[in-house]
This record gives sequence, C-alpha cells and structure tokens, in this order.
Amino acid sequence: MYIDTHCHLHDEKFTDIDSVVEEYLKNGVDIAINMGCESTSSLQGKLLAEKYDSVYFAAGCHPSDSNQFNQNEFDKIAQLTSDEKCVAIGEIGLDFYWEPYDKEEQKQCFLAQIELAKQEKLPICIHSRNATEDMLKLLKSNKDKLLYGGVMHCFSGSVETASELIKLGLYISFAGPLTFKNANQLLEVAKFVPDELCLTETDSPYLAPHPLRGTVNTPKNIPVITATLAQLKNKDNVEFANQVKINAKRLFYKLK
Ligand code: NI
Repeated sequence: MYIDTHCHLHDEKFTDIDSVVEEYLKNGVDIAINMGCESTSSLQGKLLAEKYDSVYFAAGCHPSDSNQFNQNEFDKIAQLTSDEKCVAIGEIGLDFYWEPYDKEEQKQCFLAQIELAKQEKLPICIHSRNATEDMLKLLKSNKDKLLYGGVMHCFSGSVETASELIKLGLYISFAGPLTFKNANQLLEVAKFVPDELCLTETDSPYLAPHPLRGTVNTPKNIPVITATLAQLKNKDNVEFANQVKINAKRLFYKLK
C-alpha cells in the first residue's frame, strides 16, 4: 500500500538489510526507491534492486559529491540508467549548506545530469538546500529539458517556492520534518500542494519522523509521514496512501 520514494538503503547505518526489508514489508510498504549519492552507491542500489523485488533505484551524483564528478563518474552513472529497475536520475541538485562548496561546480554537475535524464527519458529527483534562488533560476532556464518531470525531495521551502516548482511540472515530496513540532510553514505547504502532486519519502537513514526523532530511520516509518499528510488534507489515510502510490507510478513510470 505504501511507497517510500527516497531512501538510502546502501548507507552503512544499515547493517542487516534483510531485516529492514522484512520489517517495512510487514508495515505495508511495498516499494522503496534507493537514491544514489555517487556512482558507487548508485551501483549498490542496482544490486539491492536485483536482490529484493520491492527495491527500485535511482542513479546520480549528489551536489555534495560534485567535486568527484568527472567523465568517468558520469559514464558509470549513465550505464546504470538502462537497467529495468532504474526509475530516475537522483539525487541531484544544489547544496549551499555543507561547506566548502563550489557553486559553479555543483551547477555543472546538476546540468550534466539533467541532460542525461532527458536523453534517457527519466524523471529527476532534486535535492536543494540553502539554494532556492539559484535552483529556481536554473530550473526555469532549463525547463525544456525537464520533459520527464521530477520531484523536489524533502521539500522545506515556502508556499511561493512550491508554487513555482509546480508551475515547472514538478512534484513535491514530504519527509519526516512534516511531523516535527516546528513544522508550521511546511503544514501550509502540505495543504497547498494538490493531492495528485504529493509524494512521500523517509530519506532514511536520516530524518526519522516524530516521535522517533534521533533513531535510525527506515522505510517502515513511511506510514507515519503519509498519515500526517492525509490528516492535514482531511483525507482518509488509506485513500491518500493509494493516491501517493498512483502519483509515484505516474512520475516513476518504470515502477511495476
Ligand atoms: Ni537523500
């Protein structure tokens, strides 16, 4: 019934993947999309997807790893995209939070992968931190390349920013912070985003939802986030979880 559209099962915090998968399946989560951070974790995603029916993956280079993005890295990521379980290019974007960062280097890394997504007919999964203005500018000037759409992962901005992203044809994904006590602005965004453009994710092992904050997050916690979103929208929980699944399958069209 549930889908986790963005997680990092390849993370070293997960020492026993068999039991992580078993637990989330027991919790009604039947699909988890593993997001790559660079070519190595993207390949790990492919291997996990080969081992577990419920796992799909995205391949990409995260902005914080853009300093190691070169032709070799690009080729390795590009090679993974034809896999039947590679559903997106991600996670890619801009991150002006973790210092030191090189804005130009990040933009080139991001743009090269937007091109790749267009070429491979895949949606993109976007990471944006402390970079709203540059992000919107870059996306707007490359709108013609976003033919297969995309999602702003772990959205944390304003209603205005969400509105701009929606105009660009992008989906908005909500994660654990929606359940935090200081989520005021996000609650407004959640009410604003049309049901058919909402996605949910854990970004595990990070960002465990309230009241599990501080623990290792896993896809088994996605029902908490989906239920919070359904409640904010005055929707039946099961109905809304199904809506999110339909949305995810529309965007990530290679999902079975
Ligand atoms: Ni992530």
